[in-house]
Amino acid sequence: MEHAKAMAKIASKMVEPPKTENASMNRGLHAAKAAKQDEFYTQYIDIQKEVEAYLEFDPDTFRGKVVYCNCDDPFESNFFKYFAANFNKLGLKKLITTSYDGSPIAGQYTLFPEYDEGNDKRQKPKALAVVLDQVKDENGDGAVDVTDVELFLKRNKAARMALKGNMEYPGGDFRSPECIDLLNEADIVVTNPPFSLFREYVAQLAGYNKKFLIIGNQNAITYKEIFPLIKDNKLWLGVDNGGTKWFEVQKDYDIKTESRKKIVNGVKYFSMGSIMWFTNLDHGRRHQKLALMTMAENLKFSKNLKGKTAYDRYDNFDAIEVCTYKEIPSDYEGMMGVPITFLDKYNPDQFEIHGYEHSYDLHIRDYPQQVQVDTNGKRSKVTKLNDACAIKVTEAPYNQTYYIVEDEFFIAPYKRILISHRRSS
Ligand SMILES: C[S@@+](CC[C@H](N)C(=O)[O-])C[C@H]1O[C@@H](n2cnc3c(N)ncnc32)[C@H](O)[C@@H]1O
Repeated sequence: MEHAKAMAKIASKMVEPPKTENASMNRGLHAAKAAKQDEFYTQYIDIQKEVEAYLEFDPDTFRGKVVYCNCDDPFESNFFKYFAANFNKLGLKKLITTSYDGSPIAGQYTLFPEYDEGNDKRQKPKALAVVLDQVKDENGDGAVDVTDVELFLKRNKAARMALKGNMEYPGGDFRSPECIDLLNEADIVVTNPPFSLFREYVAQLAGYNKKFLIIGNQNAITYKEIFPLIKDNKLWLGVDNGGTKWFEVQKDYDIKTESRKKIVNGVKYFSMGSIMWFTNLDHGRRHQKLALMTMAENLKFSKNLKGKTAYDRYDNFDAIEVCTYKEIPSDYEGMMGVPITFLDKYNPDQFEIHGYEHSYDLHIRDYPQQVQVDTNGKRSKVTKLNDACAIKVTEAPYNQTYYIVEDEFFIAPYKRILISHRRSS
């Protein structure tokens, strides 16, 4: 009940009630589209690479732990496959995996070929939980691997349990009471959750005080439900972030850009940039110290600072602008605005995070009247500058959106986080 109330509160904050029948219909269509877009599947190699980075830092990260993959079809998810195949190596106590009623058969290599009847439809029960508390050499071939898991699941029908859901949530929904009971049992949640429910998903993990390792989009960093967790060191980025990751998708998955599409051995893949792991498990990368030059050295050698005698200062925050983490001056004691990609290099022993540019407590000036001029010269009245780190410039910049406030020109670098060096006293 407590949980239902908390989740209802989050949901009511996130979604405005529909004002008309049309609005309600549009929202339904939008949700259906978002749900379709959520159907992309993580490759085994990406999961292996990330999990192994934590083992390098602490081989016992998963030892004696109950791992829960709560957005994963146990018969085809690579999260299930990875943790089942490495159950003994990782020293797991239990692996719980639940599939979602609304999820189609992905068509990934399934542990049970007969599971996929070729019509993309789920057999009944549509949602189920598979719980493994040991993985043994079932086929007696001297090795313990995923084929043993397959055999075990064939022999032990009791290891799977149908998930019914309730009036509010379908079976296997991470918010359903059955899944919450399983969540309560879990020590570490590992998955790639639906991006369209990311805020709610993370709020639930934080609310239940769980350890987690999950995939999300870089934009989630600035969500008002996520950034405070980052600032308070309750959530940070994992190891293998950014770049391009390829996800398996169904044949009818809509991919507009040709270069983001590939088909290998009849399997369709979709590439996404800016994909990040979000976690609260410790790893070695976040303890590596970033090597930096002094301010004077940066002004002399750094490409973005060529021709400048000083770093730009913001007009509305008491901070300097640093447009790449590489140009953070090692000897500057004040606040600095850095792009969100800095978080991939963030070492909490080296830096302190003060806020995101929307943090008004750090804000020193407001602009009541402002006109935005876009790259086509189009003018509009906006309030955006108050949500950004503003830099005053002497003339209207060429080929860049700018703002006019009382005959003065401003530019606003994209999404800045305000940080400073952490000096040990
Ligand atoms: C981005 S996909 C990733 C699937 C799988 N974790 C993987 O990485 O291969 C997210 C999955 O979550 C499922 N899903 C959507 N809404 C859900 C919910 N409310 N509860 C649990 N799973 C959900 C979707 O059907 C989809 O298969």
